[in-house]
Amino acid sequence: MYKISGVACDTLLKACGSPLVVYDENKIDEQIRLYVDNFKSSAFETEVIYASKAFTCVAMLEKLQKEGASIDVVSGGELYVAIQAKFPAQRIYFHGNNKLDEEIIMALDYQVKTIVIDNLHEVHRVIALAEQKQQPVDVLIRINPKVEAHTHEFIATATADSKFGISIDLVEEIKQMITLIEESSYVTFKGFHSHIGSQILAYEGFVAAIDKMVDFIKETGITVSTFNIGGGFGVRYTKDDTPVPTAHMCKTLIDSLETAFAKADIRVDKVCMEPGRSIVGEAGYSLYTVGFKKQTQHKQFAFIDGGMADNIRPALYEAKYECILANKEHEAIAGVYEIAGKCCESGDILIHDAPLPKVEAGDILLMFTTGAYGYSMASNYNRLNRPAVVFVKDGHARQVLARESFETQMLLDVQKDIEL
Ligand code: LLP
Repeated sequence: MYKISGVACDTLLKACGSPLVVYDENKIDEQIRLYVDNFKSSAFETEVIYASKAFTCVAMLEKLQKEGASIDVVSGGELYVAIQAKFPAQRIYFHGNNKLDEEIIMALDYQVKTIVIDNLHEVHRVIALAEQKQQPVDVLIRINPKVEAHTHEFIATATADSKFGISIDLVEEIKQMITLIEESSYVTFKGFHSHIGSQILAYEGFVAAIDKMVDFIKETGITVSTFNIGGGFGVRYTKDDTPVPTAHMCKTLIDSLETAFAKADIRVDKVCMEPGRSIVGEAGYSLYTVGFKKQTQHKQFAFIDGGMADNIRPALYEAKYECILANKEHEAIAGVYEIAGKCCESGDILIHDAPLPKVEAGDILLMFTTGAYGYSMASNYNRLNRPAVVFVKDGHARQVLARESFETQMLLDVQKDIEL
């Protein structure tokens, strides 16, 4: 039986039910440490900020806090989890292209240190609300550096028509934003943020974005104390993915930053990065139980007790995954299977042509690298319950998110008259 950090998959399913999301805590810890230890420079301060959208819950945030990482949040909901985890406000960055007034107020009330401003309208709202609350806040401006990264179009963010940030070409508008900020008594301009996309396997795109941003800083003469280079570092979903190892990626980026700053003769006090996927992706596993099978004209299907509701990525991005039968780890491959979920959608296929031993009802199907954007993008489609999530470490397991139930889903099913 396949084990995750010393715990057998059947034991986990017996204890917590199926389907189940399992994280190997050692792998998460190791990734956080690799980033914190290697993204370091003698020329400037550094900060590793985990993009909590990849996977968030109190236990995850407590872990990051312990390991010395910061976090970013992109909504009131993500901020709420951070508040529940008592995550230090000084180490929270608040992102988002359309922050609501109540979200900005929530951030100011919690004394979040930095808001990453997306657009001119937001500058006005943040200034007005910070003044109203008399709450100081630092801001970065998110620049779209227009460097196209090689990834799926839905997760590329620095294309010319991206909805995120302000284009690097709009120098006057950027300067106008900074002037407004500098005139306000509660908001402090700290610098720029840029993020080029996600699941990027090579480092060239990041280096190109750094160079372009540094040129921009030099040419505009804007004084920048903080520069955030964003996240987007790819992980291994299948054998075709060969991401740059984390330590090497960090060192390459630090080298590029140091060289670019020296060449441009500019001084930046702090550089931040925002990895999400690469901290939790490979540490996460999804366990499912096989139910019925079906042979069609050309395909052999194995049906599992989850699917697109707990992992929308194959349907949304044609994302590829690998799987095994955890209870038949050492058996020979007997054929290829369509791993189909139980949602009422033809597109609810998690893996096409997965090579597996002979599949039978009751087998445990384990999908690798589901730790990022799996649970966090899960839904209740077809009224499926979101799975439970467990953290496993050296033979011990602890539940960090409970399985949803029909009863918890029904908590929102209210009927009451509305006073108009
Ligand atoms: N910083 C910013 C401003 C971002 O927008 C993102 C991701 C990150 C950091 C973290 O990127 P990462 O290191 O995780 O690649 N749902 C998609 C991914 C969307 C990413 C959105 N932004 C997926 O499942 O592939």
